Amino acid sequence: MKIFQKETQLGEIFLKFIDIYSESVIVFEPERYEILYMNQKAKDFLEGNPDLSTFFQEDEYLNFIKLIKDCHKVEENRVISFKRNDNKKGVLLFSLYPVAYDDYRTVCFTFKDITEKINKKEEKRRKNAQLILQDKLKSVDLVTSSISHEINNICNFMVNNLKITFQAWNDIFTIIKEYEDENGEFLIGGISSSEIDKVIPRLMISVIDGINRISDTIDDFRKYVKEGLKSETAVIDINEVVRRVVTILNHHIFIYTENFNFNFTEGLPKIKGNMQKLEQLIINLLMNALQSLPNRQRGVFISTGMTSDKVYIEINDEGVGIPKNIMPHIYEPFFSTKYSSGGSGLGLYLSKSIIEDFGGEINIQSEENRGTKVTIYLPYVLENGKF
Ligand SMILES: Nc1ncnc2c1ncn2[C@@H]1O[C@H](COP(=O)(O)OP(=O)(O)OP(=O)(O)O)[C@@H](O)[C@H]1O
Ligand SMILES: [Mg+2]
Repeated sequence: MKIFQKETQLGEIFLKFIDIYSESVIVFEPERYEILYMNQKAKDFLEGNPDLSTFFQEDEYLNFIKLIKDCHKVEENRVISFKRNDNKKGVLLFSLYPVAYDDYRTVCFTFKDITEKINKKEEKRRKNAQLILQDKLKSVDLVTSSISHEINNICNFMVNNLKITFQAWNDIFTIIKEYEDENGEFLIGGISSSEIDKVIPRLMISVIDGINRISDTIDDFRKYVKEGLKSETAVIDINEVVRRVVTILNHHIFIYTENFNFNFTEGLPKIKGNMQKLEQLIINLLMNALQSLPNRQRGVFISTGMTSDKVYIEINDEGVGIPKNIMPHIYEPFFSTKYSSGGSGLGLYLSKSIIEDFGGEINIQSEENRGTKVTIYLPYVLENGKF
């Protein structure tokens, strides 16, 4: 009788301890997966709804039941996701303690919500990653500003020299005509003297066009780097941005594939956000697509379009694809299968946060050895009810 009393008292003490414990606690009878007891913190957390099937994400719930049923040793500091009131994904840090008396088994599940902590950590990580990118941009800006200065100088004197050559050409042409009148048609550098007045100016104009293109490309690139260091919001035409990215990456595209195509839906509604971030996003995705190609015969295709409330950019590659086992990790910061070739593993991580800034979504479908389809959906804005 005395012993029995002691046992009852110990039982009471056990429950009191659970009540004052710093975390939420639920005691299960594991075989039948039955809740035997829960402290006030757990009740508050579950807001009076002890149905854990609505608390966990569906497949997580089945895993959780299995964990409780099969728990025979202490498991500490594990994490599991749950559905928060705002329907967002939350994270619990939990431990399981099997507590048995004779044949009677219980499992104590103790947990606390660490979502905010994780979000803060994530925010800090994201900021650090942004800083790394900004740092990179700053050094690129330094290099491009001196390169562009040099190139623009060269372009300027080439144009000036060409102007002088052009003036000289008019005089030379008069002499050629006089000579031709006296001696008949003759060849200059394989070109007939009767054609030379059309060919030489055409060649000179194409040289000037080329110089202008060099100068424009370098200016575009500088603008891209410079603007990347700002954070302004603008109304953006996605086709225009994709076109510009294709120009900036033209050389890379050529290196990786001979099979590149784009198909833009014209007249798409505009989106609102930071233009340079969007450029950065498309560069990241397009570079990933190009880098996945095993040879130049395989292709990359970009298209744009719209759904009822979003515009989308789709990048299809015929690359090596993403193996199933690495798919859950691709958005993690510093996760890369390309370290040896200079990958930092920040591309998709930053891309995801840029998409979130735009209020959009990303969808990646991939088949090993067949290729990958990345679609980003970005909400469009209406101006005066129209787009
Ligand atoms: N289109 C794709 N095809 C195949 N694998 C891809 C593709 N996109 C991403 N991946 C995989 O996801 C990983 C992470 O991509 P992410 O862009 O974040 O980093 P990275 O490309 O390795 O490096 P970084 O972009 O910083 O240069 C890549 O290393 C690669 O394994
Ligand atoms: Mg990348």
